[in-house]
Amino acid sequence: MRWNEVGADVAPGQEALLTGERLPAPQGPRLFFSPAAFPCGKNLAALKQPGEFVDGRYLLEREIGRGSHGQVFAAIDSASGRRVAIKVLNPSLEGDDQFVQRLWREARSLAALWGTSVVEVYAFGQDQEDGAVYMAMELLQGETLSERLEELELFDSRMSAYDILVATQPIVIALNTAHKLGIIHRDLKPSNIFLVSPEFGGGSRLMDFGLAKVDDQLALTRAGVVAGSPNYMAPEMLRSEPFDHRIDVYSLGAVIYRALAGQPLFPGENPTQVLLRVLKDPRPRLTDLRPDLSPLVDDWVQEALALDPSYRYLDTPSLWNGLLAAVQRGRNPSAYRARFLEPIEG
Ligand SMILES: Nc1ncnc2c1ncn2[C@@H]1O[C@H](COP(=O)(O)OP(=O)(O)OP(=O)(O)O)[C@@H](O)[C@H]1O
Ligand SMILES: [Mg+2]
Repeated sequence: MRWNEVGADVAPGQEALLTGERLPAPQGPRLFFSPAAFPCGKNLAALKQPGEFVDGRYLLEREIGRGSHGQVFAAIDSASGRRVAIKVLNPSLEGDDQFVQRLWREARSLAALWGTSVVEVYAFGQDQEDGAVYMAMELLQGETLSERLEELELFDSRMSAYDILVATQPIVIALNTAHKLGIIHRDLKPSNIFLVSPEFGGGSRLMDFGLAKVDDQLALTRAGVVAGSPNYMAPEMLRSEPFDHRIDVYSLGAVIYRALAGQPLFPGENPTQVLLRVLKDPRPRLTDLRPDLSPLVDDWVQEALALDPSYRYLDTPSLWNGLLAAVQRGRNPSAYRARFLEPIEG
């Protein structure tokens, strides 16, 4: 099988990519693209199992999880011997030529985010045998923010405000870098933030960047709010209005709110009711749930989660810096520790 090396420095729309012709070696991050992805395979794959190979190269070891886009496996890359994570996208997307093209374009623009805390995508392509569309990425060790919060909330506990500031700092910087390049995440939520175990280097990673953009079916599901919670989605996006990077600013605010409060912005089982509240209700006072925080944090919630994007924080650093200032005024150990954190430059 021939592989093209596709780098961020290659101008979009180069037809040579489709023919398998060798391109100039890319600088910095690399994405590997299998020409077999064009045209799209017609044999739709069933769900994958451990022990199977993907694209004749990645040996699936164990399933790590499932989400709205597909299955995630820990795997061995037989070409390099390194351990990777493989996300096998939903089989229903395989017959969609446009989807693979969109995924390819998006993956190439994301190469510009190499060196930030965005999870590194090594390759994507389509299995020649069964048509499965997959992404190979760095295998992270630890847990998602969603898992961490759910575990804490089970025992009526929360992350400290200081730990939230530290965990979100790299995410804020990565998002700001992306926004300056005109790239929007679109699906920021606790399950897309990964907290790496301290023994594996610690820190946070941002996952599934731009995947919501390429996955039309997911967008449709979200618009109908059949699956998932609308608690992290900006009102303008829920209304299908034009939007910009401030949808990510909102989502980051909603993630931080959940972590601080120990519950989502509008708790509830019924997604339609939650959706209506996200679109209409005044934002709650966080100090009702967290009296140890300064009242400044209530102003922060209003600005972070403003219904109208023009009243919202302009960018992720100003949202984080606003929170830092509020936490520093609190009456808890975080207030003292937060004094040693510096504001993030925009
Ligand atoms: N690169 C990775 N390394 C290690 N584990 C990962 C990696 N990517 C995803 N996972 C794990 O796989 C699980 C499923 O991820 P996935 O993104 O498919 O679902 P999700 O984030 O819960 O929902 P959604 O599809 O809406 O994003 C995650 O909860 C995470 O634990
Ligand atoms: Mg995800």
